[in-house]
Amino acid sequence: MDGLYIHIPFCTRKCNYCDFFSVPARSDALLAYVALLKKHLSWAVEQGWQGPVNTIYFGGGTPSLLPPQCIDTLLCAIDRQLGIVPEAEITLEANPETVTKASLCGYQKSGVNRISIGLQTLNSEQLACLGRPHTVQDGLNAVAWARRAGFSNLSVDLMFALPGQTLPALDRDLEQYLQLAPEHLSCYGLTAEVGTSLGKKVDKGQVILPSDECYAEYYMSIHDLLTAHGYQHYEIANYARKSHVCRHNMGYWQRRSYLGLGAGAHSFENRLGGCRWAVPNNLDHYRMALETGQEPAVCLESFTLREALVETIYLGLRTAEGLSDRELDMKFGTDLASAFPVAVQSLLPWLTKEGDRWYLTPRGWLLYDRLIQAFF
Ligand SMILES: C[S@@+](CC[C@H](N)C(=O)[O-])C[C@H]1O[C@@H](n2cnc3c(N)ncnc32)[C@H](O)[C@@H]1O
Ligand code: SF4
Repeated sequence: MDGLYIHIPFCTRKCNYCDFFSVPARSDALLAYVALLKKHLSWAVEQGWQGPVNTIYFGGGTPSLLPPQCIDTLLCAIDRQLGIVPEAEITLEANPETVTKASLCGYQKSGVNRISIGLQTLNSEQLACLGRPHTVQDGLNAVAWARRAGFSNLSVDLMFALPGQTLPALDRDLEQYLQLAPEHLSCYGLTAEVGTSLGKKVDKGQVILPSDECYAEYYMSIHDLLTAHGYQHYEIANYARKSHVCRHNMGYWQRRSYLGLGAGAHSFENRLGGCRWAVPNNLDHYRMALETGQEPAVCLESFTLREALVETIYLGLRTAEGLSDRELDMKFGTDLASAFPVAVQSLLPWLTKEGDRWYLTPRGWLLYDRLIQAFF
């Protein structure tokens, strides 16, 4: 296995746009959950998952609700049972309201070497509108403390296309982000997920999100500004300084095997066409399965070779690395234009080829969800 994902499904409180699996945090529940994660790890090793791991990602929810000792305990258990390569990338998602100078130093000492801070925006009105439990100053403190703790691989999240946001306001936000000199940025357009408080307000017309035209303008404005400042736009929503591409997330887009631990976590085993598993979003199910010695995950999909080819294509087209015809030929005995002549023709305004590699242009990424339908 290449990567290990650990889901921490606890948050200070629910942000009004979020449909990721998380519940309100209680400290006794957090400690009990860490014990379950250790059980899950042992179970996975007994089932044949093997290391050493190249990347580890603590995602959430809010992993920074776990005290550094818990992260240290988990990393020691992972190293003992699977092995961690010396140059491993170990990421922890941190929410500004949950960190202190001391906790960030503690994460660093435990072996975390990449920190991803959920700033979302440096505009206080927009933060409140998103229902975020932190202030702009909490965000700035978190970044400064992370630097002081020694993190030289720091990522920040930015949300754009927020209700009432204007292009100059987004540009001001980006200028402030650039002053923090992050090695990596993840930039997500706000989506109104079904069932969230934001989704309900959008349905009732109480909140209006920017139009598709505005969204496109904001997306390209972020692309132009960040690339002009030396960031590589290496995936639809991700930008990095050279050598700071997120190796863990690249593994998802390259269909490398990874194990997911925790309630709500997914795993992928790249054998034959590949198989994807998910642990249900239910803490009681998770505890019961582990306490009674049962597999906590259920198989979501098992890929035929044709399905694996389609997934390889649409995941590859998310990235600036694109798709190599030579690699497609080695894995599937075909190339893109032979396997999908009609789709390739219909995508040509947005699809380019250099050498043996195919790429979507950034304008193609804007239309990604629609364009990839051509391969189904
Ligand atoms: C699930 S969160 C976990 C990280 C951390 N809890 C946080 O909020 O910063 C990962 C990222 O997904 C993004 N996200 C979640 N829901 C979203 C939505 N409805 N629209 C756009 N981005 C969203 C946010 O930028 C967030 O930083
Ligand atoms: S803190 Fe992150 S995971 Fe938790 S509710 Fe907010 S966006 Fe979702």
